[in-house]
Amino acid sequence: MNSSPIADLDRLLSEGMVEIANAGDSAAVEHLRVALLGRQGTVTAQLKQIGVQPAELRREFGAAVNRIRDELSQALTEKAAAIAEQERRAAVDAQRIDVTLPGRKRHFGSLHPVTRTLRRIEQIFTRAGFDVAYGPEIEDDFHNFEALNIPKNHPARAMHDTFYVSAETVLRTHTSPVQIRYLESNAPPVAVIAPGRVYRCDSDVTHTPMFHQVEGLAVDSDISFADLKGVLVFFLEEFFERELPVRFRPSFFPFTEPSAEVDMGCVFCEGAGCRICGHNGWIEVLGCGMVHTEVFRQVGIDNELFTGYAFGLGIERLAMLRYEVDDLRLFFENEVSFLSQFA
Ligand code: DAH
Repeated sequence: MNSSPIADLDRLLSEGMVEIANAGDSAAVEHLRVALLGRQGTVTAQLKQIGVQPAELRREFGAAVNRIRDELSQALTEKAAAIAEQERRAAVDAQRIDVTLPGRKRHFGSLHPVTRTLRRIEQIFTRAGFDVAYGPEIEDDFHNFEALNIPKNHPARAMHDTFYVSAETVLRTHTSPVQIRYLESNAPPVAVIAPGRVYRCDSDVTHTPMFHQVEGLAVDSDISFADLKGVLVFFLEEFFERELPVRFRPSFFPFTEPSAEVDMGCVFCEGAGCRICGHNGWIEVLGCGMVHTEVFRQVGIDNELFTGYAFGLGIERLAMLRYEVDDLRLFFENEVSFLSQFA
């Protein structure tokens, strides 16, 4: 093997070049620069050898050492620049925004099924010419009971599991007091619905302490039970978007005479009988009747001149039937997985 001092220098150069080419990052390049050209570096060591070369070799040796120092130095500088560029690109790539990525979906809320149902009910009745009125949820005994022909100690009070705020003040047990309030401030003819929250001290699978009702009232000079039947059948068929068998069953409410409960053909089994309708094909949906003369007397309306009908329905009950929900409590637990089905 050739081992002259010049040949050693050439080997130093070629090995140095390979190492520089293989350097993977700027730290490795810097490390090589020190190892080759630093004060203790291998090339620097050769520079110190120039003076000790025999005279006839000195010029050639010196020129060769200077050449490889320059070549290695340039190679290191180029390599450092290439790596810096590579690292800059990598940093830019890491921050790049991919505009082709699909956007993130925004989640939209939805109306609560009770609100949807209420709006639907309001829409149908306002189309039929009814106004919409509201009354207070904290109600006095007179409007909630007395004026509706439910005097103190009347057994009908037991039908309402009343929350008492004080002896004369209650959380309204139904929306019927709005009938009284409306007639106190509006002279007939009137046609109005009154939606809102009502409260009863009752809680099980089919009862919650707060629920929603819609009251209906129409008073005019010649309102008959036939008008009541007509408007309720119209309402139910609009609400359920189909023709339905509807029947009026004699019943009792203190504030109507005669009174009826209204059943419609079961929307689940079409009348064949199922669990929802208790296997008799009919579902009770509301109470109604002709306004009792005592109610007219309480608000100063002449019952020789006017007649009227009234009805009351439960919003949750209609929502359950329309959306086929079989547990009332779902409306109040507010699980997003349940509510989002009504989007
Ligand atoms: N207020 C009754 C209740 O909560 C519902 C009702 C029945 C309202 C008959 C009426 C009616 O206006 O005529 O059970």
